[in-house]
Amino acid sequence: MAFVAVVYTILFYVAAATFVAGLVYKVVRYTRTPAPLPIPTMPAPLTKTGAAVRVAREVVIFESLFRSDKWLWLFAVMFHLGLVLVIVRHLRYFVSSHLGLVWTLIALAQPFGKYAAFALMAGLAALLARRFMLVRIRYITGPSDILLLLLLLAIGASGASMTFVSHTDIVGVKAFFLGLMMFSWQPLPADGPLLVHLFLVAMLLIVFPFSKLLHVAGVFFSPTRNQPDTAREKRHIAAWALPLDEQRSK
Ligand code: HEM
Ligand code: HEM
Repeated sequence: MAFVAVVYTILFYVAAATFVAGLVYKVVRYTRTPAPLPIPTMPAPLTKTGAAVRVAREVVIFESLFRSDKWLWLFAVMFHLGLVLVIVRHLRYFVSSHLGLVWTLIALAQPFGKYAAFALMAGLAALLARRFMLVRIRYITGPSDILLLLLLLAIGASGASMTFVSHTDIVGVKAFFLGLMMFSWQPLPADGPLLVHLFLVAMLLIVFPFSKLLHVAGVFFSPTRNQPDTAREKRHIAAWALPLDEQRSK
């Protein structure tokens, strides 16, 4: 195997391990973080199912963001929806074509997925411009906000350059990634845009659990959204306010 394939094999094992271990570590910490007070944002659903539906609306249509900032909502939806289509389209590199139905669905998404790259990049460019142009937002913007947007833009641009300008060997890419998953290592097509794309993706995987990208998991743990309004049905007593003997038995 060529030197570059060896480097990328190691890079992707390190990146995948960091991503999975980091994500598990953070999610376990989230599950152990006490949420001692009922603080759902009112008006809130009265049941747990209702609260689950509310969280689902947050995830799928960014409901509360829509209420608070229409422009940010529009740009965020452009980017995230583009990303979903791009990811579905990318599944063809990781899913073996023997899986009939899954493969058909992935194949159906191909033509749309291709143009989703533009929605993704336009959304990112607008989100970036917003951080420079609005004084109020610029004030609270740190280097990591900018760097993450630039990283995603560079991933999108290097990917689109392969789709629309100079093609890479897709069959070779798929063989390489299926090989990684089966521990049967394969060569990697060594053209510039692909190597840049994959290097940046590995960086994204590594920083993911330690950056604000963790909102992917965090949104499910937000107490203001995931708690039902049961104040009339159930008296809430915080653990530290219970009588001492009850605290000890807990
Ligand atoms: C469960 C899935 C996801 C949900 C519900 C979600 C939701 C959101 C929402 C509502 C915002 C706007 C927040 C604000 O600034 O007030 C946002 C921002 C952002 N999201 Fe996501 N997201 C998800 C997945 C992802 C993924 C997988 C990525 C990238 C790999 C991503 C990258 C970003 C970035 C970079 C921003 C920041 C834009 C900026 O503030 O300049 N998101 N997300
Ligand atoms: C290991 C993971 C990844 C691999 C192997 C990969 C590989 C590729 C390849 C081979 C292409 C060219 C497709 C073609 O010529 O038709 C491409 C395009 C693209 N990639 Fe990736 N990529 C990965 C992850 C990502 C991620 C995480 C993002 C976004 C954050 C992304 C965004 C794009 C975009 C926007 C395009 C152009 C549109 C398209 O063809 O779907 N890629 N990628």
